[in-house]
Amino acid sequence: MFGRVSISATAAAAMLLAADLVTAAAGPAFGRNIAFDSPSINHPFLAVPRRGPVDRRTVYASGLQFTHGVASGDPYADSVILWTRAVPLDVNETTHLYEDRTPVCVAWEVWQDYACDDRPRKVFSSGKTETSGDVDFTVKVEATGLLPFQTFYYKFTDCDEGRTESPTGRTKTIPESEAWIDKVTFAVYSCANFAEGFYNAYGTPARKDKMDYVIFLGDYSYEYQEPSFLPGRTPMPFKETVQLVDYRTRIAMQRLDPDLSLNHANFPWFSVWDDHEVANNGWKDGSGDETAMIKEGVTWDQRKHNGLRAHFEWMPIRQVDSDDYFRIWRNFKIGKLVDLSMLDTRYYARDKGDDIPGAASTKRTMLGANQEKWLFDQFDQSQKRGAIWNVLGNQVQFSNMNETAVSGEALYYDGWMDYQAQRNRVMDNIIDRKLMNTVILTGDYHALWAAELTYPEKMKYNHENGNGAFGIELATTAVSSYSGYGILKSLESCQKISQRVVADNDQVKWAEGYYRGYFVVEFTPSEMKADFFSLDVGTRNDKEILAATWVSEVNTNKFKRPFGEVKTGVLQGELNPWAHRS
Ligand SMILES: *[C@@H]1O[C@H](CO)[C@@H](O)[C@H](O)[C@H]1NC(C)=O
Ligand SMILES: *[C@@H]1O[C@H](CO)[C@@H](O)[C@H](O)[C@H]1NC(C)=O
Repeated sequence: MFGRVSISATAAAAMLLAADLVTAAAGPAFGRNIAFDSPSINHPFLAVPRRGPVDRRTVYASGLQFTHGVASGDPYADSVILWTRAVPLDVNETTHLYEDRTPVCVAWEVWQDYACDDRPRKVFSSGKTETSGDVDFTVKVEATGLLPFQTFYYKFTDCDEGRTESPTGRTKTIPESEAWIDKVTFAVYSCANFAEGFYNAYGTPARKDKMDYVIFLGDYSYEYQEPSFLPGRTPMPFKETVQLVDYRTRIAMQRLDPDLSLNHANFPWFSVWDDHEVANNGWKDGSGDETAMIKEGVTWDQRKHNGLRAHFEWMPIRQVDSDDYFRIWRNFKIGKLVDLSMLDTRYYARDKGDDIPGAASTKRTMLGANQEKWLFDQFDQSQKRGAIWNVLGNQVQFSNMNETAVSGEALYYDGWMDYQAQRNRVMDNIIDRKLMNTVILTGDYHALWAAELTYPEKMKYNHENGNGAFGIELATTAVSSYSGYGILKSLESCQKISQRVVADNDQVKWAEGYYRGYFVVEFTPSEMKADFFSLDVGTRNDKEILAATWVSEVNTNKFKRPFGEVKTGVLQGELNPWAHRS
């Protein structure tokens, strides 16, 4: 069947033995494909035992099709995670893909070109691994032996003669933790509902090629059964994603988008999930939309495993501690310039929120005790090594914002304010240890805004000069999901909401809720500069408006004044009929 050649029982037994001894040694090895660990090899019901596919080992006679391009992520100074998907050429993708457990061998190579001469390229890392239908034919390997803060190219081939090969990807390592660097630049994204818009925010900056890395703050894919008004944007499968095959199919369909795949092939991502990777307003034991504990015969726990497992398989993220249930919070020491902590405010430990503003929130946790302790340890280490910028990759709104203009209610229940005791501990820790240059990057909210971080109970805040702020928060709007101000609202009504948002919130310096977009943030030893871009995603296009630029000078913990002009949205202090301040 399918051109596969079975091997003898003796040979299979010998290979099985060899596979049991699988180590980092040369030769094909399931051990190298960390997709089999998805999401945790130490929780057997979550991961695929490598023993299983090895038992079924046979050999494919034909090459591979690299159906979904390449991606890379979580770079360290000497290594990076490389991703692809490798399906046997002669497998019938429509009927046999998910049943097919026969392993295939995939080789990879990472190199640099010599700029000025014709010498063969220099190979830094290469190896072979295997994948199978058990992990949706995804391949995730750690390429090691790389040099810090340099660009590398990579590709995958079949193991036999390299007859079939993947597209070439480009990636970049980070500097060593003690290195002094002049500049590092990130594009920051969240919320990419496929049905609601084109992925211009992924494609346009990838073509401009102005950033080193991508930070993704969650909602990479959505669970909804949602028909699209736009051509070719109705997501498959056309049902709510519940089963493992649903989540895999949804991500796979989305990954074929040319703008997303261009972005993945050219930039390493630091990504985390938010709620929609499983279900709306999810928390550790349920979601905001869950009316029944069991859907399609699947319990919430199983559904969460399905969504998160598909995500682990398809995203180039590291498993920093596969013994720690679903842990994706992790830290990157990007020279002495930036300390980046990526958080999980969603599925690791989040308790259910409630609808009573502020009440009962003292015990409730968003990060959980382990992650909170780890975060404070990161602050400690960052100070010890003298890192300048302390950046948190965070999902939900941290600032205490009066939301009345947006939702009719003051409190945003899905954000940090509904978890006040833990929020206070984070602020206390930052302020008491005098951690400087804290920059919180936030997604989830589908609007652009820039705020100074304040803790008025502890430090008197002067909104005119920014004194008393302890850092800044930059919120990116959605790549494509509808505005946080409401579905398909007009420009004028969004402007009115933005006017009230800045009028009701002194610390919010700018709000813009009409356009989709992203921002590019650049860190240097003297300042942080964030360029916010507004896009229209109703068609596939390359147009963008530089909506605003926000600058924070080092060791000021606030925005630089006077603020620049904004092209879209509303600036704090502009002539504003809703302002009720004196
Ligand atoms: C795959 O299987 C389906 C269903 O049997 C069939 O309709 C289709 O033609 C097959 N495709 C290929 C490429 O063989
Ligand atoms: C929030 O803002 C509204 C005006 O939009 C105001 O009436 C209300 O008192 C404010 N609430 C809080 C808790 O500050």
